[in-house]
Amino acid sequence: MLKAIKDNHAANWSPESWQGKEALQQPYYADLDALADVTGKLKDSTSLVAAEEARRLKKSLAAAAVGDAFLLQAGDCAESFAEFHPQNVRSIFDVIRQMAQVMTATSRIPVIKVGRIAGQFAKPRSDSNETRNGVTLPSYKGDIINGMEFAPETRRPEPQRMLQAYKQCSTTLNLLRGFARETGTAFFTAHEALLLPYEQALTRVDKITGGWYDASAHFLWVGDRTRQIDSAHVEFLRGIQNPIGIKCGPTLAPEELSALLAILNPANEAGRITLISRMGHQKVSDVLPGLIRAVKAEGRIVTWACDPMHGNTTTSSTGYKTREFGHILSEVKKFFAIHHAEGTIPGGVQLELAGRDVTECTGGKFKVTEEKLSQRYQTHCDPRLNASQGLELASLIADELRDHYQTEG
Ligand code: PEP
Ligand code: CO
Repeated sequence: MLKAIKDNHAANWSPESWQGKEALQQPYYADLDALADVTGKLKDSTSLVAAEEARRLKKSLAAAAVGDAFLLQAGDCAESFAEFHPQNVRSIFDVIRQMAQVMTATSRIPVIKVGRIAGQFAKPRSDSNETRNGVTLPSYKGDIINGMEFAPETRRPEPQRMLQAYKQCSTTLNLLRGFARETGTAFFTAHEALLLPYEQALTRVDKITGGWYDASAHFLWVGDRTRQIDSAHVEFLRGIQNPIGIKCGPTLAPEELSALLAILNPANEAGRITLISRMGHQKVSDVLPGLIRAVKAEGRIVTWACDPMHGNTTTSSTGYKTREFGHILSEVKKFFAIHHAEGTIPGGVQLELAGRDVTECTGGKFKVTEEKLSQRYQTHCDPRLNASQGLELASLIADELRDHYQTEG
C-alpha cells in the first residue's frame, strides 16, 4: 500500500501546492468569495476526460518518441465563447483528420490526433495592461478570464467565466466524442495549463490507479512564459499523471531543461514529456541542437515536437499580427533536418489552425497577401493557418516524414 502511494504521488505535492510558489500570468480577482464559489462548483462537476484516456494518449506519445507514431496537435490559439458552434468544432475535427490522413498515406506512420480545443481558453500576455488613447485596462487574457472588448467592465477578470468555459468544454467534448465514434478516429484534447485555480479544481484522484489526474484535458502543457523551474505552473504539472508538454523557446538553457525534466519526470517514464520547440525559423538551428544534446546526454526519454507558429510572429505592413507560411515551413524543415543530424526522432508538430477559410497567416498556395489579411481576420489571439494552408503544410510534413524514415532505412 505504501509503495502504491509512493508510485502514484509526487512527494510533497497536492493540487493546491502551487499556491506556495510564484504564479505568473494569473488574473487579479477582486471578489475572492465569487472565486471560491466557482472553484467549489468546478470541483463538484463531472470530469471532462477520463484518466484511462489520458493513459492511452501517453502510450501513443511513447510510440512517437521512438518513431512509431507522429503527433499532430492543432487548433485555435484561443477558443472563444462567441465563435462556439458545432459546425466550427466539426470543421476543425475534419481538417485535423484530413491532415493526419495525408501524413499517414505518404509516410505510413500512424498519426496521433490532438486538438487545441475544449479548454484552450487562457492566454499568457507579454503586457498585463493595455493602453489606448490614454486609457489603461487589463490586457485580454482569453474568454475564461475576461472579454476582448476594450471596456472596463469587459476587461475585468470574472471568475464566473470559468463556469461558462467549462460548459463549452463539456459540449465540445460531447461533439468530438460523437465525431470520433462516427469516423472511427481516436481524438484527444489539449491546452495550456495556465489558469491554475481552474486546473486545480478539475484535478482528481483516479479510482483505478490512485494517481492524480487533471480531468480538464488529456494533455496539458506549460507555456514558454511560465516554465521557470521554481514556478507555480511547474509545481502544478509535477503532480498530475497526464502526459504533459513543455514549450521550449530560444531562451531555454540546456541546464534549465535538464532540471525541468528531473522535476517533471523523475522516473523517466516514456510518453510523459513532449518537448515542443518554438524557436522561430531563424533561431532553431542555433538553439535546438544544444537542447537535444543535453536530453540525449542524460538518457532522458522525450517526444520531440515542433511548434513552428510562436517563434514566427510578425506584424504586417497593414498592421496585423501575422505569420508567413514560408517561415512556418522553414522551421518545420529545419526541425526535421536537425533531428536527422543528431540521430534523434522528430515526433510531432503543434499548429495554430482554424477549420475555416480565415485570412490570418500570409502565403501558401493560394497566396494570402498582406492586403487580404483584413478580409477574414477572426482570431481572438494569434494568427492561425486556414484549412487549405493546414492541408498544404500536412502534405509537406508528410514528405519530410517519408524522407526521414526512408534514409534511416
Ligand atoms: C500558445 O501555444 O498559444 C503559446 C502562448 O505558446 P508559447 O507559450 O510557446 O508562447
Ligand atoms: Co498562440
